[in-house]
Amino acid sequence: MGRSSNTIESIKTLGLEALVSKNKETFTKHFAFAPVFTAYAPGRINIIGEHTDYNQGLSMPCAINRWVTVSMSANKSKHVTVKSIDFAGEMNFVLGQPYGPKNSWEKYIYGCILLFSGAKPIPSGFQAVISGNVPIGSGVSSSAALEVAFMNALNHFSKAGIDDLSLIKLCQQVEHQYLGVKSGLLDQYASQFSVAGKVMLLDFQNLAHRYISADTDGYVWVLCDTKVKRSLAGSKYSERVEETQSALSTLKEKDKNIKGFRDIKENHIALLENPDQQKRIKHYVTENKRTEDALNAFERNDMKALGELLTASHYSLKDDYEVSCNELDFLVKEALATGYCAGGRMMGGGFGGCIINLVRETDANAFSQQIQQAYKQKFNIETEINIYQSVNGAGIYTY
Ligand code: GLA
Repeated sequence: MGRSSNTIESIKTLGLEALVSKNKETFTKHFAFAPVFTAYAPGRINIIGEHTDYNQGLSMPCAINRWVTVSMSANKSKHVTVKSIDFAGEMNFVLGQPYGPKNSWEKYIYGCILLFSGAKPIPSGFQAVISGNVPIGSGVSSSAALEVAFMNALNHFSKAGIDDLSLIKLCQQVEHQYLGVKSGLLDQYASQFSVAGKVMLLDFQNLAHRYISADTDGYVWVLCDTKVKRSLAGSKYSERVEETQSALSTLKEKDKNIKGFRDIKENHIALLENPDQQKRIKHYVTENKRTEDALNAFERNDMKALGELLTASHYSLKDDYEVSCNELDFLVKEALATGYCAGGRMMGGGFGGCIINLVRETDANAFSQQIQQAYKQKFNIETEINIYQSVNGAGIYTY
């Protein structure tokens, strides 16, 4: 997906209220009447716990100060008009009649509408305008922010009262059924449930979370974007989902005590004959352990240990899970070589997107400059560097 570039610079760093008013204004200009409300949902970073969510594992995300906003108003017909500012497009169709989405953003919206109306009736047609500033294809979950914002808008508009967990499960089904990506719930969960100033420890075995202070004791999370756009559809993502699920089936046959993923321990890995499956499961088991250790490091305020866990996670994702790429590996190596960074790793689905580094706040500028220079020299690409704030999850502004 590519966002039209002329809008991006101006809205990139807008705060939530400014972004919401801008979207509201655009709606009013376009339709010549004001929207009734604006729903919003943020992107996310994930500190550790990667490629574990779809297998009942652990993750540690928080939402970031970049959002997708959806302004909406009902009409008296069954006609739906949805305008995307960032993708410079408009969908027009009638509820209950078939529509063929023309591209990815339309698939997300149409998928949301069909799945939502399968759960609760949508009472009438509506007009909507969508815009946002979550970087696209960078691994900070712009797609989840779009689904979560739009589902929250539908829930509010329809007065359906679907609870937050059921709502994000519908969003996940949009990915599964309309985009063909068997993703987990990490992104939607973080976008819906985050709390400002906190990171979440998410346990996908029982879909439970707890909040821990996001304080990093003089360090900040610095994100460096490879600018290698990745799309999970058609990538090795689905292959990893299948490999790990078939590894679980094998292990269940070999050891009757293994009922689910979380019963797998390091000593079970040798039971697998397929070397690729061994590596994938090794990543899974060790990444869950690293996520538990990261919680302890946070609680002890031990940023050095936290950084080291991130770096170990990177090498596990690179060598065992094999979801990294040259650009990500180069950035991690350079980040560590600066000496300003306690640790770093690729973040999100992989094969592109960005790395996340734990850097001393006072060194963040020097760190960024070194990384920018090194990356430009090696790949002739300008990396984009961002330091995000942790924010609240999705919500609604009513007028
Ligand atoms: C993507 C998916 C998530 C998760 C991460 C990897 O962001 O959408 O469900 O699997 O990759 O941790």
